[in-house]
Amino acid sequence: MIKKEYNKDEKKHYLLNGDSPSEKKETLSLRPLTLDEYIGQERVVKTLKIAIDAALKRKEPLEHILFNGPPGLGKTTLAHIIANEMGTKIITSSGPALEKGGDLIGLLTHMERGDIFFIDEIHRIPKIVEEFLYPAMEDFAVDFIFDKGVHARTHRYRLEQFTLIGATTRAGLLSSPLRERFGITRDLDFYDEKDLSRIIKRSARIINVSIDNEGADEIAKRARGTPRVANRLLKRVRDYAQVKADGIITKDVAIDALTLEGIDELGLGDIDRRFLKTIIFNYKGGPVGIEALSATLQLESDVLIEVIEPYLLKTGFIIRTSQGRKVTDKAFKHLKIDKTKGDLTLF
Ligand code: ADE
Repeated sequence: MIKKEYNKDEKKHYLLNGDSPSEKKETLSLRPLTLDEYIGQERVVKTLKIAIDAALKRKEPLEHILFNGPPGLGKTTLAHIIANEMGTKIITSSGPALEKGGDLIGLLTHMERGDIFFIDEIHRIPKIVEEFLYPAMEDFAVDFIFDKGVHARTHRYRLEQFTLIGATTRAGLLSSPLRERFGITRDLDFYDEKDLSRIIKRSARIINVSIDNEGADEIAKRARGTPRVANRLLKRVRDYAQVKADGIITKDVAIDALTLEGIDELGLGDIDRRFLKTIIFNYKGGPVGIEALSATLQLESDVLIEVIEPYLLKTGFIIRTSQGRKVTDKAFKHLKIDKTKGDLTLF
């Protein structure tokens, strides 16, 4: 494999999204295209199906939808599925890419009735752009402003009735006027091992690799409740199986391959362990503020909050208190660190 150096933005993208730019294409082919193919998130799928069927029956565009949840759980996939099920076009952008009002207006004015406008990381949209979004969402209109000062004039430009789908890992950072303009909000949660195992077996069929049930279960156990991680691990195990075994993914092959990758039996990787050990050894187990952790680990606090912490919180390795993050006894036990043995800073 050719080793590539990533710049800072690419690295952050990789940490947030999990796919290097070259891996992205293969991942796209693993995405389900219909709600029937979609595994897991049953309540979300069921309610979306009802909303889609009702809109189709009325021959109306869907209401605006907001998806909230950690990275890799299927927010973008669902947006594409919705467009597919509605039989409409999807135009995609992201909060940071929409720098000026003009960027947004350029996209909105080209939309046809019923089209989906998908904004990923919508919590990162600049305030001035957000203000153009309000009338666009509510009245399907944008206000052009000509000239400045006393000569300023506005012209209201009508838009076709479109559906905005926003995705965010931080719904709490959305302003309430923006949040309130979504008719439907759905929170995506981590997947259980049973669903992940089914996703892994489906992906294995698509990428043409043999896997047995125990092999899929083992990868599922280590996939941090996240389909994107499951699919990434599957590819690493496939490489290993093809080079070191007879090409078939069994439980033993999965364990050997993932241990070599530094992924432990609960799915924690090097970064997770470094995160926990930093709290334990540098901050005596916590509590510690996120900015201090970010400085010590040399990782942006957004990456810690959006990518690393959600799974550690979900599995109970850390807790968040008003004074900061603390590791739990479960983390000490898992890392085989004896908390009772004197001064932890001496480890
Ligand atoms: N691939 C990634 N996520 C998936 C899901 N939820 N269902 C089926 N295949 C997937």
